[in-house]
Amino acid sequence: MNCLLPPHEARELIEQARGAMRRAVAPVSGFPVGAALLAASGAVATGCNVESRSLLQVFCAERTALLRALADGEREFTHLAVVAEKQAPIAPCGLCRQMLSEFAPDVTILTEDAQGAIIQRPLADYLPFPFPGP
Ligand code: THU
Repeated sequence: MNCLLPPHEARELIEQARGAMRRAVAPVSGFPVGAALLAASGAVATGCNVESRSLLQVFCAERTALLRALADGEREFTHLAVVAEKQAPIAPCGLCRQMLSEFAPDVTILTEDAQGAIIQRPLADYLPFPFPGP
């Protein structure tokens, strides 16, 4: 199921992602990212990227939001908004695509283009042939 959020709800989810982006902990890259993950229950979990100065650990905004939602007991997800301060549109990294394919396979991803228009595309467009697990 890949449904598009109506414009005002899409804008609201993007703004929640932007709020999370302002809380990014990105001392290494200087590249703040925010995400807002909408569960089927209606709950929204936000996340930002968190970087360790060791350079050995980086947690993307998308996975931070996903882990928070899973930890809160959510198991079904419909939409994920992602924004970056310095790049539009932002595209989730490969690690996040894999995690989303396992825990949020039907999610629609919302981003903003360089003009601020909202793009909504299914995860399957980003990761057409996911590894299903052993
Ligand atoms: N990052 C995200 O949080 N999400 C993405 O979709 C792409 C990259 C983070 C990881 C790292 O903290 C910084 O952006 C630069 O790669």
